[in-house]
Amino acid sequence: MALYSDKVMDHFRNPRNLGKLDDADGIGEVGNAKCGDIMRMYIKVDDGIITDVKFNTFGCGSAIATSSMATELIKGKPVEEALELSNKAVVEALDGLPTHKIHCSVLAEEAVRAAVKDYYDKNGIAYDPEMFKESDDPHGESCEA
Ligand code: FES
Repeated sequence: MALYSDKVMDHFRNPRNLGKLDDADGIGEVGNAKCGDIMRMYIKVDDGIITDVKFNTFGCGSAIATSSMATELIKGKPVEEALELSNKAVVEALDGLPTHKIHCSVLAEEAVRAAVKDYYDKNGIAYDPEMFKESDDPHGESCEA
């Protein structure tokens, strides 16, 4: 069996929503200290709905594929729903990732959450800080670039 699914290869080769939003309402930047990969997510929010989203990822193919898929999964959705996006949902939508690449999908989840947090902060929207607490071991798995 191929190491990467057709969907992963497709999103890696033709990333959706690649780029930058100059008028973003929220920007989230996260990185993985082990591999040095960086992901930046931009969201445009209108009436609580994510009307546009773009990303820039300086990282491995899986990080590019997962961020691309994450943008597709949150576009057109309420911000609260985007907050619930799990890395597992991103991996499932991509028809799986090799175990040692699961941490790349964690980066995508974190980038979305960071962008929503930035949106909340910039707009004075109250939230429970617990919602944005980092998990104990966000990049726990080995990171082989
Ligand atoms: Fe670091 Fe994929 S995010 S290797």
